[in-house]
Amino acid sequence: MNKKTTTIPRPKNTKPLTAAQVSRFRKKVYDHFAQAGRVLPWRKRPTPYRVLVSEIMLQQTQVERVVEKYREFLAAFPDFSSLAKAPLPRLLRIWSGLGYNRRALALKALAQKIVDEHQGRLPSKLELLLTLPGIGPYTAGAVCAFAFNKLAVFMDTNIRRVYIREFFHDCEKIHDEELVPLVQRTLDARNPRKWYNALMDYGAALKKEQGNPNQKSAHYTRQSPFENSNRQVRGTILKALVTESSLSPAQIKKKTGMDAERIKKNLLLLEKEGFIKKKGRSFVLE
Ligand code: ADE
Repeated sequence: MNKKTTTIPRPKNTKPLTAAQVSRFRKKVYDHFAQAGRVLPWRKRPTPYRVLVSEIMLQQTQVERVVEKYREFLAAFPDFSSLAKAPLPRLLRIWSGLGYNRRALALKALAQKIVDEHQGRLPSKLELLLTLPGIGPYTAGAVCAFAFNKLAVFMDTNIRRVYIREFFHDCEKIHDEELVPLVQRTLDARNPRKWYNALMDYGAALKKEQGNPNQKSAHYTRQSPFENSNRQVRGTILKALVTESSLSPAQIKKKTGMDAERIKKNLLLLEKEGFIKKKGRSFVLE
C-alpha cells in the first residue's frame, strides 16, 4: 500500500539572516530584558562557583524552586572546598525538593576534582569543563557565557523556544542543528553573559503564552509517568534514609506504604548509582 507522506515545508529563512534581521531580533530580546528581566540571585555576583551551582540546579528544575534552594545551598556550602567535604546526608537534605539527586552527587564529585586537580578554580575552557562530572555540552557552554562572559553556543529549552517561535513559526520537527547556526549568528559577542540572560528570560516569558513552541522541536518529549514515579520512589527512599540513617526494605515499606517490588528495584538502582550501600539486611547512605 502506498503510504501517504506529507512534506513539511522548511521556512524561507534558511538563508543567512541579514544584519538588519539580526539587529531587529536582538533589539526585541534586549527590550524585553530591559522591561521584564528577572532578578535572580546567581546573576548578582556571577562567580564560577555560583554560576555552576545554579546551572546544575536549573538542569531539570524550575527557576522558582531553584531560587529558594540555591540560597540555602550557598549558605551551607559557599565554595568548592566546603562542597567537596560535605557529608552526604547533609547534602541530600539540602538538595531535597530539587529532585534528580544524582546531580548532587555529581556536583560534590566535581568540587572534589576542582580542589584536587585544578587548585580550587573552575576552568574556563570548554574542553576542560566537559571533562568534569555532571557537565555536558549545555552546562559547559552556559558556564563559559554566564561565569566567564565568553563566547559559546549552546541550546536549552528556553533558547530553543525563542528561535522556533521567531524563525520557524510554521514548521514541525525542527532539529537543534537547524537552530544552532541562528544562535551563533545572533549571539551578541560584545556581552555574551547579558545576551544569554536576556534570551533565557525572553524564552521563559514565551512559555507563558498559549501553545508551547517547543512542541515543534524534534527533541520535544514528555516525561514518562512511569519513570517519573520511579524517581519519586527513589526520592522517598533517600528522604527516609536521611532521617533514619539505616532501614531494611520491610521498614521502608512500613514507613512509606510503597510497593515492596518497586522498593526493591529502586534500592538496587540507588546502590548502583552510589547513593546507598547494604549493611547486613539494611541500607545506609553511602
Ligand atoms: N535556565 C537555565 N539557566 C538559566 C539561567 N542562567 N537563567 C535563567 N534560567 C535558566
